[in-house]
Amino acid sequence: MTQIQKNDISRLLHQLSGLKISEFIKLLTEEFPGQVTFSSSFSYEDQVITHEILNNQLPVKIFTLDTGRMFAETYSVWSSTNAKYGTNIKAYYPNAEALQEFIEAKGPNSFYESVENRKSCCGIRKVEPLKRALAGNAIWITGLRAEHSADRHDLPMLEWDESNKIIKYHPILHWTTEEVKKYINDNSVPYNPLHDKGFVSIGCAPCTRAIKPGEDFRAGRWWWEDADKKECGLHVHEG
Ligand code: ADX
Ligand code: SF4
Repeated sequence: MTQIQKNDISRLLHQLSGLKISEFIKLLTEEFPGQVTFSSSFSYEDQVITHEILNNQLPVKIFTLDTGRMFAETYSVWSSTNAKYGTNIKAYYPNAEALQEFIEAKGPNSFYESVENRKSCCGIRKVEPLKRALAGNAIWITGLRAEHSADRHDLPMLEWDESNKIIKYHPILHWTTEEVKKYINDNSVPYNPLHDKGFVSIGCAPCTRAIKPGEDFRAGRWWWEDADKKECGLHVHEG
């Protein structure tokens, strides 16, 4: 098993230049066999990457973090994606004891009461399962896009994640919303119908709402909190 290091990034960046997404992912799977994984929340963006991987039969482990609080529509896209590509996307679940203890102490919707509760809920339902999903991997592919938030504007395509000791690759970081939509249409990729109802960034049902035209892309996530707190801890960027 190859131990990935932060200084592998400059070499990989060099290799990335001029390659199509599927070509670069293939190169990664050859260089790090069995150690390339992709996290999908079944958003527009993630469905583009899923199509690239499954349509090209690339040996990438696709997983989702099933928080138990996702929209019914999200489970439907998951199901239709399995059917279209003849696959079964793996899910990671919250630790049952930790979740039980948290709900018994705070109740089912405590995330509305304080940022602390909200971060605890995201910690139990997403961040800890993510650590299990990433363990032993070298490359973590995500559907992050620069347009989504100011915090993501200056991200590099390849990034070192110190807390998970992994290199993150964001293949469609610089795609526009129009490019994403066109790809989905052109390739008849299943997508979440909530995107047609004003939902841009889709997370858990109780914590996501549609946005109005002109509103910030992340305005629909944890909308009751201050803008600077709107990350769940999955993506922690080095300053
Ligand atoms: S978040 O940090 O606010 O939750 P966002 O919804 O923007 O993230 O999604 C960015 C990327 O994080 C997605 O493209 C996907 O790679 C990953 N991601 C987010 N939520 C999940 C999830 N529930 N399961 C798997 N991956 C996820
Ligand atoms: Fe909990 Fe909301 Fe975070 Fe989902 S987004 S894990 S429901 S606080």
